[in-house]
Amino acid sequence: MTTSPASLIAPHGGSLVERLAEPSTHDAQLEAARSLAQIQIGARELSDIRLLGTGALSPLDGFMTEERYHHVVNEMRLEDGLPWTIPITLSVDPIAYRSLRHARQVALVYQDEIVATLDVHDIYQPNKAHEAVHVYRTDDPAHPGVNVLFQAGEYYLGGPITVFKTAYDHLELSEYQLSPRQTRQAFHERGWKSVVAFQTRNPIHRAHEYLQKCALEMVDGLIVHPLAGETKSDDLDAATRFACYERILSDYYPSNRILLAAFPASMRYAGPREAVFHALCRKNYGCTHFIVGRDHAGVGDYYGTYDAQAIFDAFEPNEIGILPLKFEHAFYCTVCAGMASSKTCPHESSHHVFLSGTKVRQMVRSGFAPPPEFTRPEVADILIRAHANTEVAAAQSGGGADAQ
Ligand code: ADX
Repeated sequence: MTTSPASLIAPHGGSLVERLAEPSTHDAQLEAARSLAQIQIGARELSDIRLLGTGALSPLDGFMTEERYHHVVNEMRLEDGLPWTIPITLSVDPIAYRSLRHARQVALVYQDEIVATLDVHDIYQPNKAHEAVHVYRTDDPAHPGVNVLFQAGEYYLGGPITVFKTAYDHLELSEYQLSPRQTRQAFHERGWKSVVAFQTRNPIHRAHEYLQKCALEMVDGLIVHPLAGETKSDDLDAATRFACYERILSDYYPSNRILLAAFPASMRYAGPREAVFHALCRKNYGCTHFIVGRDHAGVGDYYGTYDAQAIFDAFEPNEIGILPLKFEHAFYCTVCAGMASSKTCPHESSHHVFLSGTKVRQMVRSGFAPPPEFTRPEVADILIRAHANTEVAAAQSGGGADAQ
């Protein structure tokens, strides 16, 4: 555990809870872990382990025990009352459950590599339908987050973890991977006292830029912090998204007031609850403000446009700590000749340029650039080229790019 520099916002719960193995005993601990019972994990669990290792999920020290899980699902709080909205759980199937019932410690294995150990404090059977309805506000298996939940094993293991360096091997976009300790240091070095974080899982468009720049008028610095873990298959891959961010940031943003870094979480599409989760994690990275726009972390029609903003009212502002900056649906207005929202623009919606993600994907697939009022041409160009490359790769391997 470490405390943060006094000039920066405190992590959630007061201190950064990092779960990386001590450097002096790392190799011995990893060696000892080879004799433990093993649990195979997937990319989503690996994302959580990476976040727990660096303290991004402070004050959590591992996967949730049953008591904590019930508090989070039912009350959006940890057992001590601290706000926490998303269950962080490790599922196992019945076969693994039977073989592990008496284990005190297990090794967590990703693609033949031990990435962490878990001290088994609890093994329990969740009520997944209950979890789905509370966390995702639906038990529809067509919801991508609910689908992942229902596909996962029937039992959950809870307890603190110790994370090995191997968890960060093969980390995509490694040059953008900054831990909370590193972002805090970066903010400190730049002299930023107030920092706004922008979460995204999409290529940058004009509305994103508008939100970020409005926020940047009010604070010292902006961290563009795109999610880089698992997303649903029709979301754009992280490498292409980062190419778009790089291009736009270098051409249209003041370099001394921005930082681009990856947030190595997986996407849950839990809308409102995930918005609070995203905000709390960014507080751990040292941010003081967090942008919440329209349908944050939403998917399909499962959430109301501003549900992800309203949920913050369930907490006292000082309990959350980081300040949500709530933005109305933003668009380009051809009469105003600029970006606007219903708060600032009096014109009919027929004058507003706004495209859905699905529409943009369709245009890009057909080789057409979305209008510059929606997507800057530089970004459109990267997207069209990336899609063309995917098509070529798919043709060469005998598949179809749009089948993804
Ligand atoms: S998200 O799943 O990461 O929330 P996305 O990348 O689409 O998805 O959005 C990133 C942030 O920008 C979210 O806070 C979202 O609410 C906001 N946002 C996206 N488009 C708009 C828009 N046109 N108007 C207002 N906010 C928007």
